[in-house]
Amino acid sequence: MPGLHCKDLLCVQDFSASELQGLIDYALKLKHGQIPDASTLLSGKSLGMLFQKPSTRTRVSFEAGMTKLGGHALYLNAQDLQLGRNETLEDTAKTLSRYLDGLMVRLFRHQDAVDLARHASIPVINGLTDLFHPCQSLADALTIQELKGHVAGTKIAFVGNAGDNVGHSLVLCATKLGAHVRVAAPKGYQPSDDVTRWAQQNAKQSRGSLLITESVDEAVADADVVYADTWVSMGQEAEKQKRLSDLDGYQVTQAVMNKTNAAVFMHDLPAYRGVEVAADVIDGPHSVVFDQAENRLWAQNAVLVALLGEKK
Ligand code: CP
Ligand code: NVA
Repeated sequence: MPGLHCKDLLCVQDFSASELQGLIDYALKLKHGQIPDASTLLSGKSLGMLFQKPSTRTRVSFEAGMTKLGGHALYLNAQDLQLGRNETLEDTAKTLSRYLDGLMVRLFRHQDAVDLARHASIPVINGLTDLFHPCQSLADALTIQELKGHVAGTKIAFVGNAGDNVGHSLVLCATKLGAHVRVAAPKGYQPSDDVTRWAQQNAKQSRGSLLITESVDEAVADADVVYADTWVSMGQEAEKQKRLSDLDGYQVTQAVMNKTNAAVFMHDLPAYRGVEVAADVIDGPHSVVFDQAENRLWAQNAVLVALLGEKK
């Protein structure tokens, strides 16, 4: 079982490179049926899944993943709980801790996930906040390792909306693991100052690197992986027109892919064809987006075993 020193998974930056690598290696073993009695590892355990935003992949992969491990998952819509009528996060965390063995949360404010985790006696797993999406980046690292053999040394270009949850987590996770990360984004869409500073520290330790530029050509030259996320995240709908105009020129097209080292195309999904990515790229032979979607389940199951499993 992969060992983790924290009770919760809120942000990949909280973990060492070897802890992240341990999760990825364990996820691969789960995927290939190499863990004995995997179907009973979480028998009798319940995971709550608290959502303030919609989801396809996170909701279904966590629920199906818990079933595969012998446990059970409950969908909790935040609006349907007393939380929706202003019961405090603290009382909600303390109450849910009396029923459940773990809680996965998809919330707007990252600080709410941190506060819930602080008041909960059970593990809390971040299934996306406005700042981070750690489960996505673990699945992405797993996908890159499967394709390239390792994340270290891989040249990853993140194009477009990089100052958001998915970009932040990928930049942090990939620099921890020794990748060469190049971000192409206009000002205002680049990783936050904190994330940039942490990623620079990560790269120094891992012998990876970080480049942040406004130039798509500079970022994708010789890239092994090109990554895009939606330009309009959940909760940003009112800014849609501004974001589409600010990010004009950052679409991943076939012409962009032609400048790479025969890169694979990655996207966390949901994707908007003709906006952040051209249809012929995401639907083309170099797209691995559904491998990423599948790997959510395996990466998360490694996290679930590490955080909810019986410590041996
Ligand atoms: N990538 C991802 O988290 O997808 P969902 O919003 O469908 O969960
Ligand atoms: N950045 C996107 C990711 C969706 C999984 C959003 O927050 O909507």
